[in-house]
Amino acid sequence: NKEFWFHEVTNKSVNDAIGAIDAIEDKKIKDFLRICLSEIIREVSYCVHNGFKLHKDKKKVNDELFFDKHELLKKITPIIQRNTRAIKELKNLDNGDFTPKVYFQDSRVKLESIKENSVDLILTSPPYGDSRTTVAYGQFSAFSSELLQLNSLYDKAIRRLDNDLLGGDTKDIEVEDFYDKSLTIRNIQELFLSRIALAEDKKEQKRTRDRLKDILSFYDDLDKCLQNGADYLKKDGFFVLVTASRIVHETKLHTDIIIAELGINHGLKLKNIYYRDIHNKRMPRKVSATNVVGETTATMTEESIIVLQKI
Ligand SMILES: C[S@@+](CC[C@H](N)C(=O)[O-])C[C@H]1O[C@@H](n2cnc3c(N)ncnc32)[C@H](O)[C@@H]1O
Repeated sequence: NKEFWFHEVTNKSVNDAIGAIDAIEDKKIKDFLRICLSEIIREVSYCVHNGFKLHKDKKKVNDELFFDKHELLKKITPIIQRNTRAIKELKNLDNGDFTPKVYFQDSRVKLESIKENSVDLILTSPPYGDSRTTVAYGQFSAFSSELLQLNSLYDKAIRRLDNDLLGGDTKDIEVEDFYDKSLTIRNIQELFLSRIALAEDKKEQKRTRDRLKDILSFYDDLDKCLQNGADYLKKDGFFVLVTASRIVHETKLHTDIIIAELGINHGLKLKNIYYRDIHNKRMPRKVSATNVVGETTATMTEESIIVLQKI
């Protein structure tokens, strides 16, 4: 679908760039340059590049925005320079004591190669909500993933990635499932159930029921990750999560409190929650959380850093 997303001149210069990069023998340099190209790929396309989803930018299309090879080189040069500096800085920090192992893994699934009770610290930032209504990572990285020929989870097409991320697959979750696990989720459920009962018409009822399903599916997935993480941790080990609380249907979902409550069931004790303002981050401050076209709600303005300890 390249013709749809790129001007033909850009398409040619991107293809030429890929050809030139592929001709480089050193794999590290090749990977480095591919990543640099990936960083500008949305910007040189017709897509609205400061959002997450794949929408065509009417202005870019009307202006017939294109990048010939000189323009493309101008765009990528500062990225190459910045990334070269970053790699040098990283090399200075690396004293060779640690060799990272990288796993390509769905965190909801227990990884057998990490032993139970073997990990000192988990530092992570899970998604802040389901991909469809929060941050569509799959859509956001679709061009890059295709450019870098990356695979999705479970041998699926990379464009299906969003469905395999936390909360991506909406399941029917029994309302009672969370009753004993998190008082905050229980309150959310009860609030949504009363809204469903009071809904003016079937459409409104369905909309509210679907949103409740989305919410519960997301927390159910997150709970699986907490369970796995708790199993990997050593006693007294720390589990630190960065997240934010979304507002859905005018209801604030206190994900930090929910994590603290769910954690108790997995032997994780809350040590502290720190808050920080979200500055300058590519984040949907306003999202269509209601899934109604054109209806947006202010969503996340601060992040929480939740510190749990395995007891
Ligand atoms: C808030 S972002 C954190 C990004 C990360 N801190 C970074 O700097 O790249 C959440 C990340 O969780 C990933 N994710 C979502 N569902 C996942 C799953 N089931 N297993 C593993 N990672 C997942 C998303 O793709 C996304 O990159």
